[in-house]
Amino acid sequence: MQTLTPIHDFLEQYANSGTVRCHMPGHKGRPLFDITEISGADSLYESSGIIAQSEDIAAKLFGSEKTLYSCGGSTLAIQTMLALVKHSGKDEVIAARGSHRSFISGCIHCGLTPVWVYPKDYMSSEVSPLAIEEKLNLRTAAVFINSIDYYGGRSDIPAIAKVCEKHGVPLLADNAHGAYLKFTRAADHPITQGASMCADSAHKTLLALTGGAYLHIADKRFLQNAKEMMSAFGSSSPSYLILDSLDCFNGFISENPDAVITLCDKLSMLKTELISAGIPVRRSDEMRLTLDCIAAGSTGTACANELRRRGIECEYADERCCVLLFGIGTSDEDIKRVKNALISGGCFPLEKPEALPEFILAEYVMPPRKAFYSPLAENIPIDKAEGKICAELWSPCPPGVPVIMPGERINKAACRMLKADRKTYIRAF
Ligand SMILES: Cc1ncc(COP(=O)(O)O)c(C=O)c1O
Repeated sequence: MQTLTPIHDFLEQYANSGTVRCHMPGHKGRPLFDITEISGADSLYESSGIIAQSEDIAAKLFGSEKTLYSCGGSTLAIQTMLALVKHSGKDEVIAARGSHRSFISGCIHCGLTPVWVYPKDYMSSEVSPLAIEEKLNLRTAAVFINSIDYYGGRSDIPAIAKVCEKHGVPLLADNAHGAYLKFTRAADHPITQGASMCADSAHKTLLALTGGAYLHIADKRFLQNAKEMMSAFGSSSPSYLILDSLDCFNGFISENPDAVITLCDKLSMLKTELISAGIPVRRSDEMRLTLDCIAAGSTGTACANELRRRGIECEYADERCCVLLFGIGTSDEDIKRVKNALISGGCFPLEKPEALPEFILAEYVMPPRKAFYSPLAENIPIDKAEGKICAELWSPCPPGVPVIMPGERINKAACRMLKADRKTYIRAF
């Protein structure tokens, strides 16, 4: 009888079998579940056994036609989505300028040109369906949206999906931060809302090990070649520890279907209590607490330092906000400590912000791929970079949103940001 966790069951059985491991990896069983594609263990990119069974279970849980496991994070899932749409023969992808660097590097490697829609600020990726519709043209291979963004903002996916459907263009969703959405009360996951394909980082909010992610496919046109495209970018030795963690999450959520709802209710209560206590909580998705530190006369980085002193490490901080990201592993005690730290005072020391994250709005000169691979590119001191064409993906991580990217002309504002980040050289020409 098939169980909910076929990969885990196989690994357990093999670990207990006492077999002499005359195969990779070289550590020979420490950790015990770290194996390679031995007999019975299936193979990620040609899955037909336990991995295929586990992926089918995940597909049912997420309501997709097919779900592929990724051991290379959402980055690999995004590269795969882009490679799949490249097959249309079209070469442009409409996307928010606040997209993650994995999207740009995917465009570079697949030879796609991003066509930007500008959200209201650098940190946001919330774009309107109208702004997208205006950019659609005969060269559009796909629309790519990043929802949830780093502050917790979301785009109107159902409305954008309608626009895409009307024009017959696939909608790709970077849902790296929102794998949990399927299991909330609203169950408003991008696949449910009409995306053609969607990348989820299972490691960011669910229980998977770092690197564990999903590529969900709803649009049947992309089913056939998906594994092949993923294998073009991914390691030929995918980690069984990561696969095991993805597999085990299927078992966990099947047996605890309300786990995410229960956690989100607790986080909602936390936010209500903080707001009543005068803490500046910004609107965000359910799984994060975004503190609007500037509104309290402080900065996100100062607040992050204060929280660190109280034993709390945040996900991200800049001069404006401090972002705390929760996940299925968050305990009641964690929530209590966050609440007590913020309410007991002193977390928002008065401080003037230095450089707020800003849109550079650099001039587009050529497709990112052409600039990235340009033989003319060399390392140029920042003082001499103004006016040159950027050839590198400069994106402080987090949030991993390129401030300036290959093919854009480096302007004064970009040089200022580069210097503020203590960068001394940039690859350009
Ligand atoms: C918005 C966004 N998209 C994609 C990624 C890439 O995800 P992964 O780290 O799972 O490769 C990240 C990583 O932080 C991200 O923030």
